[in-house]
Amino acid sequence: MTEIQRKQDRAPVPKDWTYAPAPESRDVVKLQDRYGLFIGGEWVEPGESYETISPANEETLATVGQATAEDVDRAVQAARAAFSNGWSSLPGSERAKYLFRIARILQERSRELAVLESLNGGKPIKESRDVDVPLAAAHFFYYAGWADKLEYAFPNRKPGPVGVAGQIIPWNFPLLMLAWKLAPALACGNTVVLKPAETTPLTALLFCDVLRQAELPPGVVNIVTGDGRTGAALVEHPGVDKIAFTGSTDVGKAIQRRLAGTGKKLTLELGGKAANIVFDDCALDQAVEGIVNGIYFNQGHVCCAGSRLFVQESIAEPLVEKLKKRLETLRVGDPLDKNPDVGAINSKLQLDRIKELVAAGEEEGAEIYQPPCRLPEKGYWFAPTVFTNVAQSYRIAQEEIFGPVLSVLTFRTPEEAVEKANNTPYGLSAGVWTEKGSRILWMAKQLRAGVVWANTFNRFDPTSPFGGYKESGFGREGGLHGLEPYLRFEE
Ligand code: NAI
Ligand code: MG
Repeated sequence: MTEIQRKQDRAPVPKDWTYAPAPESRDVVKLQDRYGLFIGGEWVEPGESYETISPANEETLATVGQATAEDVDRAVQAARAAFSNGWSSLPGSERAKYLFRIARILQERSRELAVLESLNGGKPIKESRDVDVPLAAAHFFYYAGWADKLEYAFPNRKPGPVGVAGQIIPWNFPLLMLAWKLAPALACGNTVVLKPAETTPLTALLFCDVLRQAELPPGVVNIVTGDGRTGAALVEHPGVDKIAFTGSTDVGKAIQRRLAGTGKKLTLELGGKAANIVFDDCALDQAVEGIVNGIYFNQGHVCCAGSRLFVQESIAEPLVEKLKKRLETLRVGDPLDKNPDVGAINSKLQLDRIKELVAAGEEEGAEIYQPPCRLPEKGYWFAPTVFTNVAQSYRIAQEEIFGPVLSVLTFRTPEEAVEKANNTPYGLSAGVWTEKGSRILWMAKQLRAGVVWANTFNRFDPTSPFGGYKESGFGREGGLHGLEPYLRFEE
């Protein structure tokens, strides 16, 4: 007998072992009791204010500003002044230096930012640490590289900045969405007024300190916190030349209506109901990992989440079986602990929305599965959920749930998969799992989605354009394409 086997005889691996808690220290983050608005490089006292909390335990973290229309006006004026007084005429190579500096400081302060992101937003620290913050830095590095090469990116088109950009971002990837918005805007020579989502303002406010360290000229970036009213004031402001919005389709449509005829440039990145399509020739275990990553990553608060799983009928049973087994191993809990895979739901409002749609799924006749797991008593939590027996007409197959809830449907032929996958008002992303390269290419061509992942899911890279079809919005972020919305061309 080998040494290893002998040990196993004496002490068998316990059946119900679990991880010991491994909480990340909060001490790296120095929170202020109150935050103002960041306008013209200074902290400005807001007209009104509100409290921001941790969704994991409902603890109050800080008081932040609810910027009024007057506050927004001040921010736009500061951005305009900075645009005219030098930023827009700075050589691209000089702008690049600031962006590179910001990227490096984000790396240096990554632990602090990751802890704060998890504290205020509820996502597991391993995601904010390994995904959100590194990708945010990567976006600044990438667009820093373009700042002095715009004429090569768009030859013979004489690119120039648009002016003042108003940017409104959501709560699912607070710092990363800030980076997606700011990096290309600044690289192109614009100045910005950015509004974080009301439930997750803190990393954007900490980012103001990164800007101070980077010595970015005052007024180039202004950050006004507040809810939809602040966002609406920014959209309405006549001094804004371009609006970039990421959020719900309803608000996106309202913004588009409001801007019709104003000549302001607009990009919208809205909701999704992505199809993740699994063929019978795929590597099954790999697909299960991709399905889990597709819908339970970031509690399913992902616009491109693989929320509709289409499985080829012949493998539906074994696949769902494997998936359920895998769900039992997902750990749900404290976002600041290094172990959990699934953290807290971002807000009470979002939790209620998830519960409403899950109840609708049960009522309409789908079969629900949730692995046994103990949810914390305080805070906003929802167990990873799978629905089988789902018809295409059910609300859980049609509407964006934006939570850890998967709807499983089946298909027989590739044609049927395409037809069902495209049967949605959205078109942001899709996934295909098969061993056949030719099938991947054929599917990618048929699927009406901005991104199609093959044998993987939820992969992001600053060099790759991202955006939607149909009600998922228009315009692209990332890559060379992501520069265009922030440029005006003399043709
Ligand atoms: P939302 O669209 O209301 O919020 C997104 C951002 O827009 C926030 O910063 C918010 O303050 C701002 N906003 C709200 N009303 C506005 C207005 N009238 N004018 C300008 N800005 C405004 O999204 P919400 O209510 O947080 O979530 C509702 C649903 O939207 C979610 O359940 C999810 O389905 C979807 N959603 C999609 C996101 C995506 O990444 N595509 C992100 C967030 C939500
Ligand atoms: Mg809303």
